[in-house]
Amino acid sequence: MRVGILTGGGDCPGLNAVIRAAVRKGTMVYNDNMIGFLEGWRGVLENNTQVLDLDAIAGIVHRGGTILRTSRTNVAKYPDGLDRVKATFKANNLDALIAIGGDDTLGVALKLHKAGLKVVGVPKTIDNDLGGTDFCFGFDTAVNIATEAIDRLHTTAEAHNRVMVVEVMGRDAGWIATYSGIAGGADVILVPEYEIDLENVCDMLKRRAARGKFFSIVVVAEGAKMAAQSDQVTTSAKVDEFGHVRLGGIGTRLSEEIEKRTGFETRAVILGHIQRGGSPTAFDRVLATRYGIQAIDMVHNGEFGQMASLQGQKLTAVPLEQALGKNRKVDPDLYKLSEVFSG
Ligand code: F6P
Repeated sequence: MRVGILTGGGDCPGLNAVIRAAVRKGTMVYNDNMIGFLEGWRGVLENNTQVLDLDAIAGIVHRGGTILRTSRTNVAKYPDGLDRVKATFKANNLDALIAIGGDDTLGVALKLHKAGLKVVGVPKTIDNDLGGTDFCFGFDTAVNIATEAIDRLHTTAEAHNRVMVVEVMGRDAGWIATYSGIAGGADVILVPEYEIDLENVCDMLKRRAARGKFFSIVVVAEGAKMAAQSDQVTTSAKVDEFGHVRLGGIGTRLSEEIEKRTGFETRAVILGHIQRGGSPTAFDRVLATRYGIQAIDMVHNGEFGQMASLQGQKLTAVPLEQALGKNRKVDPDLYKLSEVFSG
């Protein structure tokens, strides 16, 4: 078969491991011809390809980013988008396409599937909040980076009697904040799932100070909202082709409020894209490899319009229709557990 691969949306450590696994098994086991589309759906619209042979995937399992590069291109935004995609399928004699991406990229995949094209999805988001799967690759790496940052911030916070507010990624769900906050021993964890109660946060910090703990660590997900405000904090009014704003800045707002209300010196640190950069952890390399193998197997099983999915310990296939548009929130029991360590 001739099988295409693309990576769309924000990058995520482990993307190269998915590509490598799918190409390796496709080439060696199924005798496929594999091609990569560059920069997500843009590469399909513009028929911008690269050969994905064994040489192309050599030495990439440990590398972050994606050798195919990525973009947030939305095929539906182009009046002739579907026709151009169909033309690219034809021009390359493509039998199937593996799309690696989040809700947006896979949403396009679903539309194309409905239009009769043979597409298989692999779920990808650092935020770990896609429906239809238990864990996304890249999340473990982000959590480890954030945890190391929290560890480092502990010592400087303690040295200066400061409150440090650490802003981590997490647009609609606070998985990174919850995991890194628990692992790093944060005193307060704030997530998009629950509006921030500033009074409660400040009370906790004051209680700690009364116990002789003159420093504190607050972890906040970028998508968390202050109770008094209805909008998420953004860095720009610009939106991408899927209508998403650029989040960022809740950490700074929060630190100003905490300092004003408690009198404790407070600093904000925004981890941003550091969480998405660099090498994937061993866990993510293995998980991403399993996703890649599952995807190429799905192509050969004819499981189109479906997405590779981790269910417990097993990789399986779920219909894209069932998985998409269902933001997976942090398990309330896990979040509750973290409250034992608050204040
Ligand atoms: O959706 C994943 C994510 O990492 C979000 O947490 C974040 O808001 C967004 O992507 C930022 O992506 P970019 O800056 O690449 O547009």
